[in-house]
Amino acid sequence: MEIQILTTFPSTSTSTFILPLSTSDALAAVNAAYQPNTDILTSFEAKHGDFMLTYLGDKKVILLGLGEEKSFARVLRAFRALSHRGQHLLKGSISIDFLNGSLDTTQTKLIEAAINGFFLGKYQIGQFKSEKPNSHPLDQLTSITLIASDAQSVAEAAQRGLKFAGTQMRILDLVNAPSNKKRPSDLANWALRSGEELGYTVEVFDKEKITALGMGALLAVNQGSIHPPTFTIMDYNPPGAQKTVCLVGKGVTFDTGGLSIKTAAGMPLMKSDMGGAAAVLGAVDMAARLKLPHRVIGLVPSTDNCVGSDAFKPSDVIPSYSGKTIEIIDTDAEGRLILADALAYATRHFQPDVMIDLATLTGSTVRTLGYTVAGLFSKNETLKDQLFKAGLEVGEKNWPLPLWDEYHEELQSDVADIKNLGTKPMAGAIVAAKFLEFFTDEHPAWAHLDIAGVAFTEMEFSKHKSATAYGVRLLVEFMENM
Ligand code: BES
Ligand code: ZN
Ligand code: ZN
Repeated sequence: MEIQILTTFPSTSTSTFILPLSTSDALAAVNAAYQPNTDILTSFEAKHGDFMLTYLGDKKVILLGLGEEKSFARVLRAFRALSHRGQHLLKGSISIDFLNGSLDTTQTKLIEAAINGFFLGKYQIGQFKSEKPNSHPLDQLTSITLIASDAQSVAEAAQRGLKFAGTQMRILDLVNAPSNKKRPSDLANWALRSGEELGYTVEVFDKEKITALGMGALLAVNQGSIHPPTFTIMDYNPPGAQKTVCLVGKGVTFDTGGLSIKTAAGMPLMKSDMGGAAAVLGAVDMAARLKLPHRVIGLVPSTDNCVGSDAFKPSDVIPSYSGKTIEIIDTDAEGRLILADALAYATRHFQPDVMIDLATLTGSTVRTLGYTVAGLFSKNETLKDQLFKAGLEVGEKNWPLPLWDEYHEELQSDVADIKNLGTKPMAGAIVAAKFLEFFTDEHPAWAHLDIAGVAFTEMEFSKHKSATAYGVRLLVEFMENM
């Protein structure tokens, strides 16, 4: 895809012009570049995500409402809505007019958001239908024209937006894929392909290697499954790397709950229990694509959590990579087990400056924060603040919950070093985070994001819930500001 930049408005063109407008300056923004049609402009309120096809003078124009607040997330969503719901309007050549609209082209972040949303809107969910979804008109596009004042920085921003959209769409496919099309080996293969394309190292441990290393917690969760586990290490390590970041993602390809089996109603959603892994895959891929100046290591422990004749049982005492033993109270609290091995591996093998894990870990987080905000846990105030701000900046919000040591008492076991579930049915998200902390070797800059509510939720791509690719943007934003 070629991106052409015009710094003045073309006098003749048969293109469709997209004109992003905000509520307050919708009218004022349209200047002599168009022959304003006052009736139409006053009837268009520029509500967020609204769009309207019209003619201004002899030009075919799509007015796109941004609403009042021009934030990254709002601009991204408005463009995504146009490109997804308004795809019938997008045939032929496309120009986006940032110059005569109301997006300030000095804010290149907003241009990036616009292009990201516009191309993410191509996403189609029905890949397993026998009748394939219609191809999106933007798939035929070989170039797009942006009308903007600062050609150089706008071109860069647009390229970034395109790259994010590409990776996010592949992450959406991965999270939306059902369990029978998504085994632990598929997560590993995703990483291998990304590493091959972008030239970074990826190593995949198979069951034999995982056993030899003594990753007892990952193996225990895998006991009920006929599909072997994988442990994937992605290592993007540019020359002269400034800092080392370890990202760890829960890769449970399906969570039945194991013998502590879930009820039928919500179980289909558990194909998304690898949303943390997906965020890590996408973030490392983007770090390499954007050539970030830091070493970024992605660790993805993966298995499904199934019922089988050798499935692990409540009351089992299992070993773990850290050397600590764990009493199993509930086999449905499996994510923290596979993360325990990965976090211990991260601290032992790499000396990361920062370590962040992401996991669809607890229903408790969903009840506490709902479907738009992730739970954020860290004792490192700076790290917590940076992740919080990055989340606000890119519209992948998170909110801090405490990690005080009182909560650890819930996890004391009579027979092992720790048990995998608290005694009382309370503060589930926090107690789960305390369990993870036990395996971080008191790392001074560790954060945990519980993304159970935000990884898979209502989206315009689906009638029901579907994947969001939460975390890809957030992690890259965080690493770029680090
Ligand atoms: N994968 C689930 C958490 C989850 C719930 C993710 C809802 C997405 C949406 C996790 O493994 C789990 O089963 N957690 C249990 C823990 C319980 C047994 C203590 C939960 O939160 O209900
Ligand atoms: Zn579970
Ligand atoms: Zn789970």
